[in-house]
Amino acid sequence: MFSITPLINFLLLFTNALLVRGLDASLTLADVRQAFYEADIPQDANLTFNPSVFLQVIFPQESSSLSIVLYTPGTNLSVAAVALEPVFALVGPALSKDFVVIMVDLDVPSPSDPYLGPYRHFLGGDYVPLDFTPLGAFLLGNLTKPVSSWVSPAPDSVAPHRYVLLVYEQPTDFSGQTLITTNTSRYNWDMSAFVRAIGMGDPIGGTYMLVGA
Ligand SMILES: *[C@@H]1O[C@H](CO)[C@@H](O)[C@H](O)[C@H]1NC(C)=O
Ligand SMILES: *[C@@H]1O[C@H](CO)[C@@H](O)[C@H](O)[C@H]1NC(C)=O
Ligand SMILES: *[C@@H]1O[C@H](CO)[C@@H](O)[C@H](O)[C@H]1NC(C)=O
Ligand SMILES: *[C@@H]1O[C@H](CO)[C@@H](O)[C@H](O)[C@H]1NC(C)=O
Repeated sequence: MFSITPLINFLLLFTNALLVRGLDASLTLADVRQAFYEADIPQDANLTFNPSVFLQVIFPQESSSLSIVLYTPGTNLSVAAVALEPVFALVGPALSKDFVVIMVDLDVPSPSDPYLGPYRHFLGGDYVPLDFTPLGAFLLGNLTKPVSSWVSPAPDSVAPHRYVLLVYEQPTDFSGQTLITTNTSRYNWDMSAFVRAIGMGDPIGGTYMLVGA
């Protein structure tokens, strides 16, 4: 049996102190949905977005014990602020035991000519709720290695890219999937076709950040 105790200890240690940037207690799920549609994300990624949970993305910082939390969709963050691999948390009812988390950049190489997007920055499954953070969220911990390991945002245009993070309930078909391996190109990823093929349904939550060079 794999033990998640060390992971829990690690996560609790480092979430004890959080620099809360972009946290807005008045943010509703309807606001999150609207922000996605106003940024043309469902249109450009061919997805239906009706979130039932909030997704928090917690970025540890190189030179500080404080983390930066992405919460409000559309928050501007610097390349340096998002350089380290984040952990994820959900606010809302825990709907099932396992979740899949995705991050894509829709604007590669630039928002005005995104002919290489979406670029798959991350695809990981077997995320389970671990514990409450000080912010009242369920921290997620992964029980297996990601399908596509984390690639930090490194936009080469000054115009900020939309980095979209999505969480899905994990279908049983996910673990055995062979559509994406470590050798599958990350560019021009037809995410909606993948999501359909695996039977993942619509995302249950998400957020996005704007990061420019
Ligand atoms: C968008 O998704 C729908 C199903 O949700 C699918 O029928 C359609 O072919 C997709 N369109 C593109 C351009 O991928
Ligand atoms: C984010 O940055 C862009 C320019 O890069 C700016 O137009 C926009 O107002 C900023 N948004 C916020 C919420 O600060
Ligand atoms: C969880 O994900 C991280 C990086 O994304 C990876 O290094 C780690 O091995 C994964 N955990 C397990 C138990 O596979
Ligand atoms: C990826 O490609 C390398 C080199 O061609 C090969 O050795 C490896 O088995 C491939 N891995 C997968 C998961 O297909």
